[in-house]
Amino acid sequence: MGASVRSVQHDLYGVVGRPARHSLSPAMMQAAFAVLGMHACYLALEAEALAEALDALDRVGFRGLSVTVPFKQDAFALACRVDASARSIGAVNTLRRTASGWEGRNTDWLGAVRALERIVPLRGASALVIGAGGAARGVVYGLMERGAHVLIVNRTEQRARDLAAAFGCAWAPLSDLPSVGPKVVVHTTSAGMSGNPYDFAIPEGFFTAEMVVMDIVYAPLETPLLRRAKAAGARVVDGLEMLLHQGIEQLAWWLNRPAPEAAMRHALRRAAARAQGGVSHG
Ligand code: ATR
Repeated sequence: MGASVRSVQHDLYGVVGRPARHSLSPAMMQAAFAVLGMHACYLALEAEALAEALDALDRVGFRGLSVTVPFKQDAFALACRVDASARSIGAVNTLRRTASGWEGRNTDWLGAVRALERIVPLRGASALVIGAGGAARGVVYGLMERGAHVLIVNRTEQRARDLAAAFGCAWAPLSDLPSVGPKVVVHTTSAGMSGNPYDFAIPEGFFTAEMVVMDIVYAPLETPLLRRAKAAGARVVDGLEMLLHQGIEQLAWWLNRPAPEAAMRHALRRAAARAQGGVSHG
């Protein structure tokens, strides 16, 4: 009797980016598929251009994609349909294959909001957003959507002004930080990532025990900014929580069922520890 080989059909998912190989998402998503008992595969897909990548992945039969740097705006432009949040933010981080093409959503803003909401009610809370780039757009949208009072500061003042005007919130020069006493602080720049310097100064005594401080940087997990906030007694939320919650929302949308949060968090934290502070993108 000869050995038999049986082919098992796997559903295909992945993260498209440049770079993508250091992504922590495959560990998180594969853990979820295992818990759900699915024959599914989630791959890191490095692409030169998103349009060609989507055509190729479509032909191979991919069902869902996470989209990361630098393709989130391209994904917005290429999606056959997007939800209202993605339209407001102007970026798509999640694609789902439908009969009419790739449908797009943005779950980054929801990831940020969910990570914060676990700890602090956002309605009516004063929130300071540091940074005015692509990541800040999602965070500002999410905070406004939940009814927080948002103030933006940024190294380049004009970008803070433009982002505030786009979402109808406030902005301030960095020099005003000493007089700002927010309930929530969200740091959205790449300062602190792998030792990047902070081109802004947070004044002594700024952080307090009443604050909740989130950093979207997760390499290292405890950034210099979070360390200072923690030392002042603030409650801190690290960047992996946002990555986790945006991933939970992606999976739930692709599969139309709840995602296994505990297993995903465990796998994500283990993968991050293994990466030992190396640079990685969602
Ligand atoms: P992303 O899409 O990741 O947000 P981005 O659009 O290039 O990237 O925006 C990066 C943000 O981080 C900006 O707010 C940028 O400030 P500028 O608008 O002044 O460029 C901010 N940033 C990047 N490196 C920084 C640093 N070392 N210190 C302070 N802010 C920094």
